[in-house]
Amino acid sequence: MIINPLKIGGVTVKNNVFFAPLAGFSDASMRKICLKAGAGLAFTEMVSGKGLKYTPSASSELLFSYDDETVKAVQIFGSDVSVMKWVASSEHLKNFDIIDINMGCPVPKIYNNGEGSALLNDLDLASKIIKAVKSSGKAVTVKFRTGVTENKLVTRDFAVMCEQSGADLITVHGRTRNAYYQGEVNYTEIESAKNAVSIPVIANGGIFSKRDADVLMDRTGADGVMVARGALENPMIFSDILGIKPNFTIVDLIKEQTSLIKERYGNSRGAVIFRKQASYYLKGVKGSKRLKELIFASTSIDEVCSILTSALSKSSF
Ligand SMILES: Cc1cc2nc3c(=O)[nH]c(=O)nc-3n(C[C@H](O)[C@H](O)[C@H](O)COP(=O)(O)O)c2cc1C
Repeated sequence: MIINPLKIGGVTVKNNVFFAPLAGFSDASMRKICLKAGAGLAFTEMVSGKGLKYTPSASSELLFSYDDETVKAVQIFGSDVSVMKWVASSEHLKNFDIIDINMGCPVPKIYNNGEGSALLNDLDLASKIIKAVKSSGKAVTVKFRTGVTENKLVTRDFAVMCEQSGADLITVHGRTRNAYYQGEVNYTEIESAKNAVSIPVIANGGIFSKRDADVLMDRTGADGVMVARGALENPMIFSDILGIKPNFTIVDLIKEQTSLIKERYGNSRGAVIFRKQASYYLKGVKGSKRLKELIFASTSIDEVCSILTSALSKSSF
């Protein structure tokens, strides 16, 4: 794929290969190593607008970022226009340059509340939310799916609505709400969004290798790609896609990540926080079942790091 810097409203990011928002995973440490591996931009996980307004202490940890994250992007979700407007201009988001609005989350708790992918059913409300967030004066992006069900795809209309409401970039996850995270990515739908708007369009879904990124770009004509689970399995995917050969390995990145988590949360709590991510790193590694058992039994992130790095040093990964 062609690697370019990308302009998002008044913000320029160094390249068009993004790390996705991932609840429970895209914390400051994970974003830091993905950016180091080459990602052009990384988003926080989805943060509730209502949560930030009414119980900010519960959500504030999700907003933590390191100073060297030079362009900071937060993702928020919600369906209450006045709350979203308030949050976007609030002190809570003052450090962020870009606000992404989640209009794709499929989980019942969110959908049944009229948030996330439920907004695919209500373009008027979605438009009001985008305008409300845009009134903050920050760059605003929207991440959405192709529709709720296969027989009612809304990608093109939704993309046009986003642009007309003031969005500076859209990310299209080429699956419906009903498909969750499985199945084919609908290239044609992403392409229809790209052809309908003049703001940048980022294609998302199913990138687990450089080749997947090349195919997604080629088939959709998108301006860039967003990698989610592929980066959880191996953050070095960003270097691969960019075609750069860094002077560090995944083992170095894991050492850096675990030391950041330890510094912030301590050895014991850090072990618990890092477990799920550690399992992703072990995907495809020989003996991973036993290694995961050891990791889940461990109460020290130092130990988890050493189990993981020794396994990955031995594997051909
Ligand atoms: C565990 C998990 C958590 C996710 N959390 C978020 C989230 O907070 N916000 C969001 O917009 N998408 C979220 N997603 C969706 C991803 O950002 C992405 O759109 C999806 O996984 C498709 O990309 P992939 O096929 O490269 O994984 C999540 C996905 C997974 C698997």
